[in-house]
Amino acid sequence: MSALTDRFGRVHDYLRISVTDRCNLRCLYCMPEEGMKFEPPENLLGYEQIAEVVRTGARLGITKLRITGGEPLVRPGLPGLVRELASIPGIQDISLTTNGVMLAEHAEELKAAGLKRVNISLDTLDSARFKFIARRGELQRVLQGIEAAASVGFAPIKLNCVLLKGVNEDEIAAFLDMAAKQPLHVRFIEYMPIGHADDNWRKHYLPLSRVLEIAQQNKLDVERISDVLGNGPSDDYRIKGGVGTFGLIHPVSDQFCSRCNRLRLTADGNLQPCLYWVDELNVKPALGSAAEMEKLFLRALDIKPRNHEMAAKLADESQSHEPTARRMSQIGG
Ligand code: GTP
Ligand code: 5AD
Ligand code: SF4
Repeated sequence: MSALTDRFGRVHDYLRISVTDRCNLRCLYCMPEEGMKFEPPENLLGYEQIAEVVRTGARLGITKLRITGGEPLVRPGLPGLVRELASIPGIQDISLTTNGVMLAEHAEELKAAGLKRVNISLDTLDSARFKFIARRGELQRVLQGIEAAASVGFAPIKLNCVLLKGVNEDEIAAFLDMAAKQPLHVRFIEYMPIGHADDNWRKHYLPLSRVLEIAQQNKLDVERISDVLGNGPSDDYRIKGGVGTFGLIHPVSDQFCSRCNRLRLTADGNLQPCLYWVDELNVKPALGSAAEMEKLFLRALDIKPRNHEMAAKLADESQSHEPTARRMSQIGG
C-alpha cells in the first residue's frame, strides 16, 4: 500500500505546487478586480525549498507534479525549477497550468527543462469578452501561447474553459467545434465558490449538464473515453469523427472527491489536503528535516476530509471544517 493512502483508501500520487499568488490577469471567478494583498517575496518558498518538499513527497509516492499560481510564469526563473524537479527520482510527469499570456516567450525553454504538458485557460474566443472576464491582458497573446505550446511539442494541450452563465455559455458550441476540428483537449469547468461565495458565483454558476445538452442539440455523437493523458478530475469525451477531445470538470454538480489523488503546496509554504477547506499545514518549520517533512505529508492525509460541500455552501452550519478564505489565485486551482 502506498504511504500516501488516506483514511478513505485514496492513494495520493499528485502534488499541485503554486509558485506565486500573483497574476497578470484578474479573472472574475478568481481574483477581485482591484487585486489582493499579495505575499511579500520573502514569504514564498524558494525554488530549492520547493524541491526539498517534493523530494520527500516523491519518496512517499508522489510521481506527478503540476505547477500553478496565480500565474506561474510571472515568477522569474521557472524553467530552473522545472529542471530541478525533473531530476528528482520518482517524478514522472511535470505539467503547468497557465493563463497563456506569457507562454509564447517561455514555451521553448520550459520544454527543454523537462516540462511535459501545459493546461491553458481559455474562457472565450471573443476579444471584447476576454476583457470582461479577465479584466486585463489580450486574448491574442493567449492564442499565440497556445500556438507556441503546440509548436514546441507539448501534448496533449488542454484548454480550461470555466463556464459562466450569461457570459460565455453561448460559446459552448464554438468550443465543441474547436474540440472536433483541432488537436486540442477542451475542458469545460464548473465555477467553484472558492474563497468567496459572492454575487459573482450566484449569478454565473452553470452546471455542466448544459454542455451535453448543447452537444445533443447540435447532433454531435459523443462517447466517453479514458485515454487522455492526465491526473485530474476531468471526465473525457470524443466527438465521433472529430480530431480533438473534450472534458467536463464538475466539482459542484457532481463531485469527484472519492477519486481524489492530490495534495497542494501553496506558494507561502502550506500543504493543503483539500482545495475547499481551510485546514493546511505549514511546511516551513519542517525544512531541513526529511523526517519532519514526512510527518507533515502523513498528517495532511490524516486531516483530509472525505469530500467538500460546495453545493451546500453556506447552508450547512454543522460542517466540521471551515471553508477556505483563500481565493483561487492563492491556491492554484
Ligand atoms: P490534468 O493532469 O491535465 O488532468 O490536470 P488537472 O485537471 O488536474 O489540472 P488543472 O490545473 O488544469 O485544473 C483544471 C480544473 O480542475 C481547475 O479548475 C481546478 O481548480 C480543478 N481541480 C483540480 N483538482 C481539483 C480538486 O481536487 N477538486 C476540485 N474541486 N477541483 C479541482
Ligand atoms: N472555479 C473553477 N475554476 C477556476 N479556475 C480559477 N478559478 C476558478 C473557479 N473559481 C481555473 C482557472 C485555471 C485553473 C487553475 O483553475 O481557469 O484554468
Ligand atoms: Fe490569474 Fe488564473 Fe486567477 Fe485568472 S484564473 S486571475 S489567470 S490565477
